[in-house]
Amino acid sequence: MPPAARNLFEKRFLDFQKLQMSYLIAVTGKGGVGKTTIAALLINRLIARNRKPVLAVDADPNTCLDAALGVSVQKTVGGVREEAREIASKGMSIGISKQELLEMKIAECLVEAKDFDLIAMGRPEGPGCYCYANNVLKSVLAEISSNYPYVVLDNEAGLENLSRRIVQEVDLLIMAADPSRMGLETIKRLHGLAREMDLKYKQLAIIVNRLRGNELPAYINDIKVVTGAEFVVGLPDDGELAELAESGKNIEMISPDNILIKQIDELLTKVFGSTFLQKGGPPEATV
Ligand SMILES: Nc1ncnc2c1ncn2[C@@H]1O[C@H](COP(=O)(O)OP(=O)(O)OP(=O)(O)O)[C@@H](O)[C@H]1O
Ligand SMILES: [Mg+2]
Repeated sequence: MPPAARNLFEKRFLDFQKLQMSYLIAVTGKGGVGKTTIAALLINRLIARNRKPVLAVDADPNTCLDAALGVSVQKTVGGVREEAREIASKGMSIGISKQELLEMKIAECLVEAKDFDLIAMGRPEGPGCYCYANNVLKSVLAEISSNYPYVVLDNEAGLENLSRRIVQEVDLLIMAADPSRMGLETIKRLHGLAREMDLKYKQLAIIVNRLRGNELPAYINDIKVVTGAEFVVGLPDDGELAELAESGKNIEMISPDNILIKQIDELLTKVFGSTFLQKGGPPEATV
């Protein structure tokens, strides 16, 4: 592992060796419903409440979470595994095993920000299928996530990544949808899929995003019953967020009294208890 990456891992480890396990939140939903935005908001609020550092995982091959968080991914797991394969096949890795070479390359993918690190799966380059890149990301995640008290996973549309078993068990599974009847029906489908795949999660939250007003559609009650979701949150279609997105600004620029911030804080307070709102509070998850 290159010295810089080793330093980073050690620093993170020393900071968090008190913690037993990381708390994993995964955001799912169909295309364009706001998964990346919600993942970025969650990371922003965890950091604001001193629940850091957060490991942000962009499991969407079409990397977007970096821009939403104001950082830039240079290398992805999908990209470097091909680089590692090429180096290994050219015989340039004398004295280093293929696995070690891959690990070194993966460490190069980790983007370090002040309060979070980010790793992106990306697309595998060259010949090869997603399965391999997926397996690599899975083992990398298993190895590094325990160094972070909180891990937030932004997924591609559907349950693809989760169905490929990128993670074994999620603490909080978020299903995001638009407020249309069809949008809400997809939550039922996602829930059915999650059950079929035996995806384990401790709690389920439904986020209905881009509401026209503040009211949740009445149909959400049926969805809540069918899915057994513990939490239902409505997020309005927000002008400030739209402006930020249009001008290429990231979530850090959002004003602290924005309604989306308030709603996500409220959700996390329900999940972690009222100590969540104490900024200087302990970083441990309470569930
Ligand atoms: N509550 C909201 N108010 C205003 N704009 C929003 C809101 N939520 C999301 N958006 C905007 O909607 C667009 C799509 O959001 P986002 O990229 O988060 O969706 P996604 O589900 O991650 O999409 P994909 O399936 O392509 O990954 C973005 O331009 C984002 O800024
Ligand atoms: Mg996205």
